[in-house]
Amino acid sequence: MSTDLGLPTLRGGTSRDPERPQDPRLIDTFGRVATDLRISLTDRCNLRCTYCMPAEGLDWMPRSEQLTDDELIRLIGVAVHELGIEELRFTGGEPMLRKGLEHVLSAASAMEPRPDMSLTTNGIGLARRAEALAAAGVNRLNVSMDTLRPERFATITRRDRLQDVLDGMAAAQAAGLSPVKINSVLLRGVNDDEAPDLLAFALEHGYQLRFIEQMPLDAQHGWERTEMITANEIIEKLEQRFVLTESDEDRGGAPAEKFLVDGGPATVGVIASVTRPFCGACDRTRLTADGQVRTCLFATGETDLRAMLRGGATDAEIADTWRNAMWGKKAGHGINDPGFLQPARPMSSIGG
Ligand code: 5AD
Ligand code: SF4
Repeated sequence: MSTDLGLPTLRGGTSRDPERPQDPRLIDTFGRVATDLRISLTDRCNLRCTYCMPAEGLDWMPRSEQLTDDELIRLIGVAVHELGIEELRFTGGEPMLRKGLEHVLSAASAMEPRPDMSLTTNGIGLARRAEALAAAGVNRLNVSMDTLRPERFATITRRDRLQDVLDGMAAAQAAGLSPVKINSVLLRGVNDDEAPDLLAFALEHGYQLRFIEQMPLDAQHGWERTEMITANEIIEKLEQRFVLTESDEDRGGAPAEKFLVDGGPATVGVIASVTRPFCGACDRTRLTADGQVRTCLFATGETDLRAMLRGGATDAEIADTWRNAMWGKKAGHGINDPGFLQPARPMSSIGG
């Protein structure tokens, strides 16, 4: 069986894998427990970041394949009530393009125990929606912004919308969605001279900046290791203007390595997925907009919960299938293995 993206689909059985201990949580064979669910609400986006998708966009997922709001809310309920999920992170594509976003968020925030909720957005239209998002129960926002220069923003995202993003962040902070986190990807020869400027901007506004190493997840399959700005390079660039000291705060499952800036208390994060993988501490499970569970950003298989939902499965059956899927989670993403294959699904349809 395969999905329309040509991905292999693993049909989870509804009975417990005999090897898997009787534990209601999402445990795997390496002792990890997933408590953080990342949900891609749509694969559509209103930007066209060069490291993510081509200028013409992608063949978006047909609506009929997308989970309906009710289906999505039901799966979130299974995750929170049956599987011990404590954190929900909503992503895209661009999650604000999902119709019914606030409805889904409100339903999730009414669940017991109430999950912690965050949204990863490109910030377009955020200025108008920040208050409504806060009212719907969002606790925090991650805004993607790679440059502070309008012409560079237009080059990277192929849209001249930097001011929207800046206004969006300010509105989010004013709505109490703080601390606002900024995600930046540095691209060689494009914006890699801007690391200290981005940090100065974040410090000035009270935003928390994190740099992300570019990962092989672009739709065009154009990622090249030599083009990637590594964590070490990012740190060197920041140290041209700031004194960084490693923060001894426990990272837990958080991917960002944190550094105190000029003695603190401000920090800057570096997410070194490629050069310093943190898979051993991973606490994530993922759900795509078409209802497929992924054990990892880089997983090549998926587990089809939408078929179960539409086939009349019970919550208990869905929960058990999700547990079986996570029990099979691999030790790591394998980006640095010689036989690494990029997943068929691009980042915009998996969620960052
Ligand atoms: N590598 C690293 N980060 C990426 N993002 C999108 N594509 C990639 C990639 N290939 C970032 C976006 C956003 C977050 C969801 O992930 O810039 O901040
Ligand atoms: Fe959209 Fe995010 Fe991809 Fe940019 S990186 S095109 S904002 S999904």
